[in-house]
Amino acid sequence: MSKIGKTNLNASNQGLGCMAMSEFYGDPMPEEQAIALIKKAFSNGVNFFDTADIYGYGDNEVLLGRAVASLVNSGVARENIIIASKCGIIRDKNDLTKRGTDNSYQYVKESCKKSLARLSSSVGYIDLYYLHRIAENGAQIEEAMRAMAELLAENKIKAVGLSEANPIIIANANKVLIHYTQGIHQLAAVQSEYSLMTRNVENNGVLAICRKLGITFVAYSPLSRALLTGKLESAEQLAKNDFRRSVPRFQGENFEKNKAIVKEIRKLAEKKGCSIAQIALAWVMHQPGVIPIPGTTKEANLLSNIAADEVKLSSEEILFLNKLNPAQGTRYSEAAMKIYGFEGEL
Ligand code: ATR
Repeated sequence: MSKIGKTNLNASNQGLGCMAMSEFYGDPMPEEQAIALIKKAFSNGVNFFDTADIYGYGDNEVLLGRAVASLVNSGVARENIIIASKCGIIRDKNDLTKRGTDNSYQYVKESCKKSLARLSSSVGYIDLYYLHRIAENGAQIEEAMRAMAELLAENKIKAVGLSEANPIIIANANKVLIHYTQGIHQLAAVQSEYSLMTRNVENNGVLAICRKLGITFVAYSPLSRALLTGKLESAEQLAKNDFRRSVPRFQGENFEKNKAIVKEIRKLAEKKGCSIAQIALAWVMHQPGVIPIPGTTKEANLLSNIAADEVKLSSEEILFLNKLNPAQGTRYSEAAMKIYGFEGEL
């Protein structure tokens, strides 16, 4: 367990990413199964659950809310569960091509209200509320943090985070949030993609500033969306509506090169008697101040991921993993890289 940033929120060593239960990796799971999976995670020590308003156009918050309500009704203290949600990406169910960002004061306030309604009254508040993407290159950060400070004062949220922000924006948002909360709150968490395949945050200053300011770094897609499991042989295995088909690192020559990296990790996994996914998760958990949030829709994978907590890596093993090449091919489609301002990334 570790505190999220300088808050009193005490999170398990790994969280659970709930996104794929509702969308993006093929059809949604039956809701009852998803709720049972979330409850299974909690009974096995995971107390940190990650959702967002856009996942399943709100359905993911609804199901997480139902799972938490069920836990609370069975006697679990609400304070022992950490719910993270996000706002800031605009989508339209009636126009699937529509994608944008908004961090304006009004938008943040209204989005939080809607998320709370979806999460249900048993949930009552959001523990960690993130800006999902940074709009207008940070021009709206000041008003977004003013909105967040009000949400904190109204007890609608307990802590504030940013997702996929650069170090300048992190430093600025932190300063502004401290100002608007009269020093009571600073940024608690920054969430970005981070795994053996995606290591940008080591080089772009994000991990460094998080450590300097005492901000927890939350690593999403720590299994590189299943590349780091060794189970994916071809994109043809993926459902027709699986968004990974549009992601360059799952295509053609890139995919073959990425499988060669996985082959290297397999050698270490075999030596240690664990799975490739467990090595990948253990590597993230060995990074100071970092909490991974692997996503899964299957109980066996959930339990195996939780067991990665027991996989200890020596400094030689970490060095071996550190020296592997990062993935070939970008982590989102060209269009998405543009909208989110990730164009400079390799
Ligand atoms: P995201 O953050 O997008 O959820 P991720 O955590 O890097 O991405 O990886 C999630 C993917 O890895 C999912 O496709 C998940 O598939 P299942 O729903 O079938 O589990 C897969 N995954 C997660 N844990 C796994 C494990 N232990 N073994 C094999 N695949 C796993």
